[in-house]
Amino acid sequence: MDYVEARNLPGHVGIIMDGNGRWAQARGLPRASGHREGAAAVRRIVRIARRLGLRALTLYAFSEQNWARPEEEVDALMELLRDFLLNEREEILDNGIRLNAIGNLGRLPGVVRAVLDPLRRDSEQNGEMVLTLALSYGGREEIAYAARELAKSVAAGRIRLDDVTPDALRALMPSLSVGDPDLVIRTGGERRISNFLLYGLAYAELHFADVLWPDFGERDLFAAIASFQRRERRFGLVGAPAPLVGGAPAPLVGGAPAPLVGGAPAPPVGGASAPQVACAPATHESATREPASPIESALAAASGAITRIAI
Ligand code: FPP
Repeated sequence: MDYVEARNLPGHVGIIMDGNGRWAQARGLPRASGHREGAAAVRRIVRIARRLGLRALTLYAFSEQNWARPEEEVDALMELLRDFLLNEREEILDNGIRLNAIGNLGRLPGVVRAVLDPLRRDSEQNGEMVLTLALSYGGREEIAYAARELAKSVAAGRIRLDDVTPDALRALMPSLSVGDPDLVIRTGGERRISNFLLYGLAYAELHFADVLWPDFGERDLFAAIASFQRRERRFGLVGAPAPLVGGAPAPLVGGAPAPLVGGAPAPPVGGASAPQVACAPATHESATREPASPIESALAAASGAITRIAI
C-alpha cells in the first residue's frame, strides 16, 4: 500500500503533459481529440491540486518548439486554451487561484491574449494557489532571457560582473517566481525534460508516469506525490541521520518545503519535517463503508484527523 503524507506535500509541482496524440491515435481519432481530452485532464488536476493545498502548479501547455507543429494542430490547441480560460474563469476566481502565464506570450494569438490577460489581472490578488501555464515556453529561452537582462545591466554599469550569480539569474526567471519546483511529473512514458523549467530543476524530484496525459487522474497524482515523499532530498548536503533501531518510524522525506518566493529551498535539517505517527489510521483499510477517495482522506488529514492517506 502506498501512502501520501498529508503534511509533507510538495509546494510547487510542475507537469509535462505528454501523450495526447498517442491517446487519440490509439482510438483512431484526430490528434485534436487527444488535446481536448487533455484539457479535461487539466481541469481535473487543477481542482485536485487546489483541494489538496498545493501552493503552485506549473503546467507545460505549449512549448516554444510546438509552433512548428502542423498549423491545424496549433490552431486547435490555441482554441482549447481560449475555451479553457473562458470556461474556468469563474472557478479559478472563486477558488482563490492566481492564474499566471510564462513564456513568449507575445507570440500567442489575440483571441488567447484577450482572455488570458484579464484573468491574470483579475486573479492577481488570489493567494490560495498559483496556477502557471507555460505557453510558448522554453527553459533555454528563459535562461537566455535572464542572461541577456543581466548582461544589459552590466553593460549599463548598474551591476558589476561579480553580481552575475545563480541567485541573480534566478530572480529574473518568471518560472521561479513561485520558487523552485519540488516535484516534476512527466506523463506519457518518455523519460526526458524537453526544455521545461531547466534552471529550476536543479534539485527537483522527477517522476515519470507511463499513463498518457488524458488518462492522468487523482490516483496518478497521488502516486507521484507518494513517490516524492519516499525520497530523501539532500540539496547537495549529507543525508539525514539513520532511523533509530527498534520501532521508531523511519523518516519519510528529508527537507522542508521550498519557500514560495525566491531563494534556495531550505536544506533538510535533521530528517523529516513533519512528525510521523506510526499507527495513524489508513482510512481505506479501516472503513467499512465505501473506501474514501484519496481527496476525502487528504481533506480529513488537513483537519489533523489522520497523518497518512492510503492510495
Ligand atoms: C504533448 O502531447 C502535449 C501538448 C503539446 C499540449 C498539451 C495541451 C493540453 C494538455 C491541452 C490544452 C491545455 C490547456 C491548459 C487547456 P503530444 O501531443 O506531444 O502527445 P504525443 O507524444 O502522444 O504525440
